[in-house]
Amino acid sequence: MKKIFWPILSLLIFSFSIQDEPQCNTAKLRDRSPFPVGVAINTEKLKDEENYWKIVPVQFNSITPERIMKPMYLHPKKGVYDFAETDHLIDFCRQFQIRLHGHTLIWHKSLPTWIENFKGDPKEWEDLMKDHIQTIIRHCKGYIKSWDVVNEAFNDDGTLRKNIWLKNIGDSYIEKAYRYAREADTSALLFYNDYSLERYGSKFTAVLNYFKSLKAKGIKVDGIGLQMHVTLDYPYISDIDQTAINLQEEGFMVHYSELDIRLNEHGLFSSKKHLLELQQQRMQVIVKGFMKLKPQYRFGITFWGVSDNDSWLTEKSMRARPLLYDARYKIKPMYCGFIEALR
Ligand code: G3I
Repeated sequence: MKKIFWPILSLLIFSFSIQDEPQCNTAKLRDRSPFPVGVAINTEKLKDEENYWKIVPVQFNSITPERIMKPMYLHPKKGVYDFAETDHLIDFCRQFQIRLHGHTLIWHKSLPTWIENFKGDPKEWEDLMKDHIQTIIRHCKGYIKSWDVVNEAFNDDGTLRKNIWLKNIGDSYIEKAYRYAREADTSALLFYNDYSLERYGSKFTAVLNYFKSLKAKGIKVDGIGLQMHVTLDYPYISDIDQTAINLQEEGFMVHYSELDIRLNEHGLFSSKKHLLELQQQRMQVIVKGFMKLKPQYRFGITFWGVSDNDSWLTEKSMRARPLLYDARYKIKPMYCGFIEALR
């Protein structure tokens, strides 16, 4: 037993400690890609983290704020909006010609306590929602041209999530949110954003049918954000691709809006090097699938963070390693997978 144990242990230690230096052309993603390549930004890090400045404006031409445009930050008190952070981010994006995608107007999370505790009849709730949507869109209209208007409104089984908006306004809150958003900016691209849609299952069918029915009523929703928090082997690439193609067929733009590929749910005894190679291959097929869409349907691919250190998944497991850069902001093989798919 001892004889087998030590060689295996040293192999594992070796594979976890080697430096992975991917051999790929480190040309800028934003220049190489025929569609926008985005990243979720933690604005605190944009202030303090030098690597952010070295990487973000060079590699990406689309930004989604990870937090600062959520209701608890933008609308902290009744009648009080705080656009300071958003305005700084707009300045940054303008300086480097980066698209800024608004995320997110109506969600069941990241609400300020005053909204969570708000007491009112359906009309008062609808007025609150209308004011929230329209004040934010109108303030940002000079720069932001696309919005996640409603986020994560469906359950996995395709039923509507019984969130604070549905409970107080009724099922029609989604439709109303898009009407008010459109009223505030007639030319903005309005998106619905959700997770697990790329599994091509009952949640996707329900969302697609719902937004087709809005379209039939004359409410224009331009695109769907597939969040794409995926693993190395789930969902199947055929399902991801089919989801995107179906959206295109129904006339919706496609945003892979929060992409990360987590490693920690794969085999227990796979070496880090092997997992990073699988992640590179996974990245490649995902981008290849996206490239099959017609150019006018490709809103873009956005990564949910710059480095593994920034990811929301790292809070749960250090072994998730889901993004393009490692914790020290070095390019990972996954980055090369993206570049290779563009060839
Ligand atoms: O920075 C504070 C820290 O100082 C404090 O000690 C700690 C205590 O909880 O909180 C830290 O802030 C948290 C922050 O993440 C950074 O970790 C916030 O509480 C927490 O709410 C915030 O979570 C964000 C979450 O949305 C809720 O807004 C995540 O960063 C962000 O990645 C996540 O993004 C969502 C998308 O918007 C929608 N789709 C799912 C996606 C992942 O959950």
